[in-house]
Amino acid sequence: MSKEEKQALFKEAMGNYPTGVTIVTATTTNNEPVGLTVNSFASVSLDPTLVLWSIDHEVSSIKAFTEGGKFAIHILAGEQQELCKTFASKNVDRFSQCEWEFSANQLPIIQGAFAVLECKTFKTVEAGDHTILIGEVTDIQIEKKNPMLYHRRHFGAIPAEFYPIVTD
Ligand SMILES: Cc1cc2nc3c(=O)[nH]c(=O)nc-3n(C[C@H](O)[C@H](O)[C@H](O)COP(=O)(O)O)c2cc1C
Repeated sequence: MSKEEKQALFKEAMGNYPTGVTIVTATTTNNEPVGLTVNSFASVSLDPTLVLWSIDHEVSSIKAFTEGGKFAIHILAGEQQELCKTFASKNVDRFSQCEWEFSANQLPIIQGAFAVLECKTFKTVEAGDHTILIGEVTDIQIEKKNPMLYHRRHFGAIPAEFYPIVTD
């Protein structure tokens, strides 16, 4: 199989793998908030509580994530589709498009997510054109909302018949 053929099939296979969607945030050395849309997020370990995600070396704010020592992962709610696009778009003032505030750990926390996991960096691993960030979860907040689904470049909420929404 040629490299081009393999890469095309790889994109097709991975693009069809359904995921949730997150926004990962951090702060620059000037204490400015930065963030991007991420679906490479996964759970790793319960004891200690570890998660991972990977960042493309081309991401403008990469240093804030690889050198900052901490980040916040927002597992988006089904109704946050515009925010998901905003944090994947160039030339947009992302944090002017949402309600957010600094946490006690000085991490930018965006309102309205299904869950927020504040993490300190446990390990970084270089992997091809990405860096894998493994985070130890230090704080978790969960709202009674349904998370977002992403599949073949489409976003949506989990259908009610699949997982009835919690209303209380
Ligand atoms: C659904 C979705 C998932 C994404 N997942 C990742 C990811 O896991 N890692 C990554 O580096 N970029 C990911 N991206 C792309 C970044 O969000 C996008 O390139 C962003 O604009 C990068 O920030 P920058 O513009 O500041 O460079 C994803 C985009 C979308 C729409």
